[in-house]
Amino acid sequence: MIRAKISGTGSCMPEKILTNQDIEKMVDTSHEWIFARTGINERRIAAEGEFTSDLATTAAQRALEMAGVDAQEIGLIVLGTISADYPWPATACIVQKNLGATNAYAYDISAACSGFIYALASAVDYIVSGRGKKALVIGAETLSRIIDWSDRNTCVLFGDGAGAVVLEASDDETGILSTHLHSDGSYLDLLYQPGFATRHMPSVSGIEAHLPFLKMQGNEVFKVAVRMLTEVSLEALHTHNLGPEDVSLFIPHQANRRILEATAKRIKLTEDQVCINVHKYGNTSSATIPVAMDEACRAGQLKKGDLLLMSAFGGGFTWGSALVRWSIQDN
Ligand code: UT7
Repeated sequence: MIRAKISGTGSCMPEKILTNQDIEKMVDTSHEWIFARTGINERRIAAEGEFTSDLATTAAQRALEMAGVDAQEIGLIVLGTISADYPWPATACIVQKNLGATNAYAYDISAACSGFIYALASAVDYIVSGRGKKALVIGAETLSRIIDWSDRNTCVLFGDGAGAVVLEASDDETGILSTHLHSDGSYLDLLYQPGFATRHMPSVSGIEAHLPFLKMQGNEVFKVAVRMLTEVSLEALHTHNLGPEDVSLFIPHQANRRILEATAKRIKLTEDQVCINVHKYGNTSSATIPVAMDEACRAGQLKKGDLLLMSAFGGGFTWGSALVRWSIQDN
């Protein structure tokens, strides 16, 4: 059986740090409120002229370097994002050009914070079906550009960044064991960006109504997020007759420390099984999981043969998980 394995990871975070204290000067909030309710301390903000494709390209280059794979060997680039450079064409095509990945076809996936897991599932299918042997999977965002910086309900939560993995056909027992994806469009109004697209075309009144910015009913999203993240994580484990004690590392989508802790508790994972970096970067949507994975890999927290569980939840609603037998030799 052909399996897809992760052979390299990379990430790229903008240099500029925006702290909770900085945000105190922008809206009616406090570091104490933000940290207590979300676990976030600071987030990264892209520089002027630094776009989603730039962060994605650097993250991808780092992943290729770790994998020892040339960009021309890549047959597919899938990029999860909700803050693309343009409405179209796909940001993945810009990354393809930047990398010189001339043998790859490229497309974006719009699954909000589940974007990386959805993109990973797509690339796994590409490899397992025998269509190709090497793919790049990226989650990249410049959410700071679609945030309403006058809305304290949302502006404290999000940040910019990118993470990437190289996926290759595997000839051993390691690799992606399975992916599990779900959606429910009936929750659209709880988390979305109303404009501008064809339903709300660009207009002055639309700008005055703050349509081009992310809207969220946070406390409603919170409840569904914990439930679905728990369910989809258990779905992955139960598929393989595995239990929480088998998990070496759990990388959940980093939206809010309280969501991660509540989810981990329901799955019956201990604190040291859970990877948390939300304090440093906030919620970077599709980038949270590959960024955390890259940091864990480079810090030696993942060893060949380890069981990695990843779960995400986001606008749509979309949610999903992936279970991985880790392939990269620790060195
Ligand atoms: O990545 C996709 C999925 N997204 C998520 O999973 C996000 C899910 N939601 C959350 O993380 C949390 O719901 C939030 C962090 C957004 C909010 O925390 P909460 O504990 O659910 O607070 P809340 O929305 O129930 O608001 C409690 C109070 C309200 O005041 P009143 O009505 O009790 O007087 C808010 O107006 O906190 C107020 N509030 C703030 N106060 C200071 C809301 N935002 C702020 C703020 N600073 N930034």
